[in-house]
Amino acid sequence: MRTPLIAANWKMNGTLDETGQLIRAMRPGLDAISGVEVLICPPSLAITVARVAVKGSAIKLGVQNMFYEDKGAYTGELSPLMLKGVCDYVIVGHSERRQYFHEDDAIVNRKLQAARRHGLRPVLCVGEALEQREKGQTDEFIVGQLRQDLAGVEAAPGLVIAYEPVWAIGTGRPATGAAADEVCGLIRRTVADTWGAAAAEGLRVLYGGSVTGANAGEFLAQPEIDGALVGGASLKPAEFVAIVQAAARARPA
Ligand code: PGA
Repeated sequence: MRTPLIAANWKMNGTLDETGQLIRAMRPGLDAISGVEVLICPPSLAITVARVAVKGSAIKLGVQNMFYEDKGAYTGELSPLMLKGVCDYVIVGHSERRQYFHEDDAIVNRKLQAARRHGLRPVLCVGEALEQREKGQTDEFIVGQLRQDLAGVEAAPGLVIAYEPVWAIGTGRPATGAAADEVCGLIRRTVADTWGAAAAEGLRVLYGGSVTGANAGEFLAQPEIDGALVGGASLKPAEFVAIVQAAARARPA
């Protein structure tokens, strides 16, 4: 049985003070829920503040991005070596990184290898744009993305894959539970082809894109969906707690 994972991607939001306040506001609600792994990914600058704020809880921390080299002349970047021991997870290949910072699958692949080398758990994001969906190319695109992103990466036990259709991110127009479940199943089958059935069985596949407290239950009830990657709604304490509660209800321990 895979433990559900609800991950918060705070993106570029919040000062240091606000990061601490937000976590403290969520703590009573989150600490009362069991059977769900909760991951918060604040801006990297705030990770040490977040570490203090989550002390004594089961909340895991992650960053939203990192570079693939350990050190060197890479102005502005954070390396896996710096993050090791500071957080557990790293989001890799988010569509905003791909779109605004021109990260291609070769870069995503190097980041996955680097995360694995340093024992950081990657949350790999894949997802089609609206144009691909409308042309009926979703499956082909997702499989192509996965094959390139995972090329040469040895089975990573801690890997999480998030299916995030680009057209659903931040738009208030989520996929349907059934449509998301279909693609999450495809992701699992592709991982089975790459790393074998056992790795695929243990893999957690998340859905992301306009998840809210009101619709989380629909996604979490799907057999292939093991959790959610939440953007906007994860900045609202009551809303985020409601999503984690929905996960606990969908997969009673
Ligand atoms: P959203 O973002 O929940 O605001 O749609 C999801 C994400 O980008 O991970």
